[in-house]
Amino acid sequence: MAEVKKIAIIAGDGIGPEVVKEAEKVLKRAEELFGYSFETSHSLFGGIAIDEKGTPLPEETLEKCKQADAVLLGAVGGPKWDSNPKELRPETGLLGIRKALGLFSNIRPAVIFDCLKDASTLKPEVLEGTDLIVVRELTGGIYFGEKLRREGEHGQEAVDTCVYNVQEVERIVRQAFEIAQKRRKKLASVDKANVLETSRLWRETVNRIAPEYPDVELEHVLVDNCAMQLLRRPSSFDVIVTENMFGDILSDEAAMLTGSIGMLSSASLGEGSFGLYEPVHGSAPDIAGQGVANPIATILSVALMFRLTFGYEAAAQSIETAVKEVLDAGHRTGDIATDKSKALGTTQMGDLIVAAMK
Ligand code: NAI
Ligand code: MG
Repeated sequence: MAEVKKIAIIAGDGIGPEVVKEAEKVLKRAEELFGYSFETSHSLFGGIAIDEKGTPLPEETLEKCKQADAVLLGAVGGPKWDSNPKELRPETGLLGIRKALGLFSNIRPAVIFDCLKDASTLKPEVLEGTDLIVVRELTGGIYFGEKLRREGEHGQEAVDTCVYNVQEVERIVRQAFEIAQKRRKKLASVDKANVLETSRLWRETVNRIAPEYPDVELEHVLVDNCAMQLLRRPSSFDVIVTENMFGDILSDEAAMLTGSIGMLSSASLGEGSFGLYEPVHGSAPDIAGQGVANPIATILSVALMFRLTFGYEAAAQSIETAVKEVLDAGHRTGDIATDKSKALGTTQMGDLIVAAMK
């Protein structure tokens, strides 16, 4: 019997609970197939926590996460809470949980599934062979810098501050080098060193530690150029590492290479093996409650959890292969279907993937 692994599950809002339910079936199936043992807990987070507890990140939810080996998160947010003050917004909970759990990097694979090449707006020949990972710094930069509003000479002024210290840069860059070492050994460090001081510190730091990873081929790419190259030559990238805001934007761009946001998994990691795993997409209020959401992003996030936190590589591959088989057999949810009339619902897609796991 394998060691019991604790997984804190926070389903959240909108389609969050719908897709998380399918991922839980995958966890169950992995227990049966591989003899693993998962102890799961369910906690409130995001909009539903605001409604029931008056805060997006209740103390008991954070406690459950801290006691767990990994967290599986659905999605949070929705129009209902959009006009709330900052401390009562679901997004504040997301920023808060990452900070409180010491998660300093966000990892997003963008992999082309051959049978879905036509789902992308890019030409199949441009996409061919694309298999990249964006490693985004999560706890620093302009999103966390001091903000202020003031009355200036020409009316209202607003200030956002971007701060990075050398340790913050070093730990994420090291993580990216290590990930690159396990892959095709190419690292693109993305910055705006021609104008930003934080970017100059970033680049200096990358150059200082690069000699410790002589097997990794390093390139520096300016962020605007990277935005272009991702569309021109996506398959030439292996690992991309960048600061918080650039990574937010570039990882969404990389996500769109694959055609559907419903397919994209992510991990947020700190020191050690602890990680928070979630689909890239949001709570999709436009389709919530209809049972049509694509659960694959969340299911693939479980595969990432198995690989990165638990080291259950065989089980990770079992999930990824099952997803590929189900797609190859022509099964599609509405977001990736060309013939929408034949689209499967969330539960049907989940069941097919569970049945295909071996
Ligand atoms: P979204 O990702 O929720 O939806 C964008 C579009 O993609 C929608 O048309 C939606 O129907 C579709 N979509 C998303 N996931 C899908 C899936 N699994 N299957 C099929 N279609 C899917 O982004 P949006 O609309 O900008 O944000 C909606 C809410 O979610 C907002 O409140 C936003 O703040 C929140 N959000 C939360 C995130 C999180 O929890 N990490 C991330 C992004 C947004
Ligand atoms: Mg984003």
